[in-house]
Amino acid sequence: MSLRRRIASSPAVVAAVNGRARTGEDELRAAIAGKTVVVTGASYGIGEATARRLAGAGATVVLVARTAERLEELAAELGPRAHTYACDLTDEDAVGDLALRLLFEHGPPDVLVNNAGKSIRRSIADSTDRFHDFQRTIGVNYLGPVQLTLALLPAMRERRAGHLVNISTSGVRGLPPSPGWSAYQASKAAFDVWSRCVAQEVRPDGVASTSIYFGLVRTRMSAPNFATIPGMSPEDAAALVCDAIVRRPRTAGPSWVGLADVITSGLMRGTTERVMTRAFVRNERARAARRERGA
Ligand SMILES: NC(=O)c1ccc[n+]([C@@H]2O[C@H](COP(=O)([O-])OP(=O)(O)OC[C@H]3O[C@@H](n4cnc5c(N)ncnc54)[C@H](OP(=O)(O)O)[C@@H]3O)[C@@H](O)[C@H]2O)c1
Repeated sequence: MSLRRRIASSPAVVAAVNGRARTGEDELRAAIAGKTVVVTGASYGIGEATARRLAGAGATVVLVARTAERLEELAAELGPRAHTYACDLTDEDAVGDLALRLLFEHGPPDVLVNNAGKSIRRSIADSTDRFHDFQRTIGVNYLGPVQLTLALLPAMRERRAGHLVNISTSGVRGLPPSPGWSAYQASKAAFDVWSRCVAQEVRPDGVASTSIYFGLVRTRMSAPNFATIPGMSPEDAAALVCDAIVRRPRTAGPSWVGLADVITSGLMRGTTERVMTRAFVRNERARAARRERGA
């Protein structure tokens, strides 16, 4: 393994870059035991690890994703407090049915973790005949969670309790919009802004909202990219989600995100964009050369 990779995967570096959770098992159990938490995207990655941690602390977990077999396997492992709902969040009818079933079978959730997501890294030159990339990402990263939240929110407000958790990315807050990520980042930004608008309307009714801006988490989604960037494990990410569920801050994520946002999107936006453009052009040229060599 190269030195850069070794440094990027060292636990101390990963924790320094991404932050460390503060909530212990007893505190989590006291906050969440007996409560109902809906986790979308629970079949893999951050959602799966979050569901495991919450179920372990005594929560009833409602697992949503498309891959029914993965959800069934997880539920079998977690025991009778886990319930599975196979659903494609880009399918409007399916999400409508899901919301009705959730309300009927479990009542309003105490926590809704909008975690399911899809990322695409593709230059705009390679996207000209791929409008579906933009439809897919906006479907799962924005429209699906909006539809689900709209359906569950009235009952949460009426009960004057609940917590919306949005799993967002440092590509939305912390780092500036990046070349190659237009479909993903625009759809994540849409849900981030939507959540922050809604948060202000529902807070007086006792419903909290938290946006978590993760850096790199080593999951199926991020696997093809960023081997030399310090990424956290899904379990460490889940611990930060649990922190947010217990403490209910408006925003959460690595400590560098706030300062980086001020610098890269404000004070040094021009310089940042120039550096990113140069890196992108260099990468694209290298990729084209590799393609030409047939590598
Ligand atoms: N990994 C990172 O570095 C990183 C960084 C910042 C933010 N995030 C965010 O973290 C969240 C989780 O990502 P991850 O890294 O854990 O990725 P992952 O391992 O690929 O998991 C994504 C989850 O979303 C579900 N999903 C995808 N499309 C869906 C659809 N149409 N309907 C229902 N469920 C769908 C997947 O399940 P099925 O395939 O079974 O449907 C899976 O459970 C995403 O919102 C992502 O944007 C990730």
